[in-house]
Amino acid sequence: MSIVKSLEKRRTYYNINKELPVREDEVIERIQELTELVPDAFNMKSARVVVALGEKQNQLWDAVYDVFEGQVAREKIDSFKAGAGTVLYFYDKNVVESFQKQFAFYADNFPVWANQANGMLQLSIWSGLRELGIGASLQHYNPVIDGKVRELFSLPDSYILLAQMPFGGIAGEPDAKEKEDISKRVKIEK
Ligand SMILES: Cc1cc2nc3c(=O)[nH]c(=O)nc-3n(C[C@H](O)[C@H](O)[C@H](O)COP(=O)(O)O)c2cc1C
Repeated sequence: MSIVKSLEKRRTYYNINKELPVREDEVIERIQELTELVPDAFNMKSARVVVALGEKQNQLWDAVYDVFEGQVAREKIDSFKAGAGTVLYFYDKNVVESFQKQFAFYADNFPVWANQANGMLQLSIWSGLRELGIGASLQHYNPVIDGKVRELFSLPDSYILLAQMPFGGIAGEPDAKEKEDISKRVKIEK
């Protein structure tokens, strides 16, 4: 699939279920493959990914609900829990700090680059999953859930949570988007 087609198909899918159109190991392979392919500044490989599946998926979203003590509607949390899994995106602070020490001139840039590289990875996996016929959305319950997520997945303190991407079988398509006058945002000069 061309990159344009792939990005065209990627949408925010809130209506997802546990019936994946492909085998779970194909999903895992795709996520691993994309994590290896997506670049990072100085090739620092700062991104970390945890894929919650099966019972861990349910435990994750129940934990998010509990941490927010009822401030996020149960139905909303359940719409994410209804998915087959969730990709959790982190960067490793230890990696970033080691590059900050090594290349002191750029020290302030490394956390920014780690976030940018993570965004590249998030989009790649979001689109890559859609190519497999899987719908996903991007959620941000961090930093409120950081401690709980670390505990649930036995992660080191150096893992900084950036985003959560619940995914699953597509139970409903989002509304079509309006075509944009892109000349307002893209300027061409010769
Ligand atoms: C960096 C970023 C952060 C986002 N955060 C959230 C979020 O916290 N919750 C959510 O429901 N959608 C979130 N979204 C999804 C956007 O609202 C959505 O991508 C946008 O409205 C365009 O719709 P589309 O994804 O269907 O093309 C986020 C998207 C991006 C790129």
